[in-house]
Amino acid sequence: MIYEKIVERRTIRRYTKEPVPKDVLEKCVDAARLSPSGMNRQPLKYIIVDDKESLAEVFGTTSWAGYLPDYEPSEKEMPRAYIIVLLDKEIRKNCGHDAGIAVMSISMVAYEEGLGSCILGAIERAKLRRILDVPDNLEIVLAVALGYPAENPIVDKVRNGDIKYWLDNNNLLHVPKRELKDIVKWNGWRINP
Ligand SMILES: Cc1cc2nc3c(=O)[nH]c(=O)nc-3n(C[C@H](O)[C@H](O)[C@H](O)COP(=O)(O)O)c2cc1C
Repeated sequence: MIYEKIVERRTIRRYTKEPVPKDVLEKCVDAARLSPSGMNRQPLKYIIVDDKESLAEVFGTTSWAGYLPDYEPSEKEMPRAYIIVLLDKEIRKNCGHDAGIAVMSISMVAYEEGLGSCILGAIERAKLRRILDVPDNLEIVLAVALGYPAENPIVDKVRNGDIKYWLDNNNLLHVPKRELKDIVKWNGWRINP
């Protein structure tokens, strides 16, 4: 079942107006809390954003769908919550892979709860720090935007080596994924085993 959910999940960048229940947001962070952590140091902290003013302000620090100039969500379609992932530098100077694992856990639990999500790396961190009053010992690593989906992107094949996602005439987002045969080899990287 986990495999099916991973296969089905797509990044969602357009959301309905429906708010995200607080207990679902907390469940997402709880999943991140219980995720693997290098040396079990658990250096990550989280801010959940769901109030109206903060949502609008945080939205102003984000960038969307870099391959598609006009695919940013409109105000009507903007995320209804964010989970901001922070590194506590008093625990560890560098979070290694923990943040990536945490955002995947958040995204998958969100998906299971019927939510869409978008991991955000392109954030204006200094601005976001001021908006959310983040102290210096916490580094903003990644954010996850959340809301109920208002789009339905699909997986596609990579054509001519181009991995850029693209929109068809019906405004449906196609997300090219490399094929298994092109990325995996058994027992060593030999072309002719
Ligand atoms: C670390 C990371 C950072 C990302 N940052 C952004 C971002 O700033 N803005 C955005 O629109 N999408 C962002 N994405 C989403 C990717 O564009 C998306 O995962 C990719 O196009 C594949 O689509 P899929 O998630 O539907 O498989 C990010 C994804 C990851 C893993």
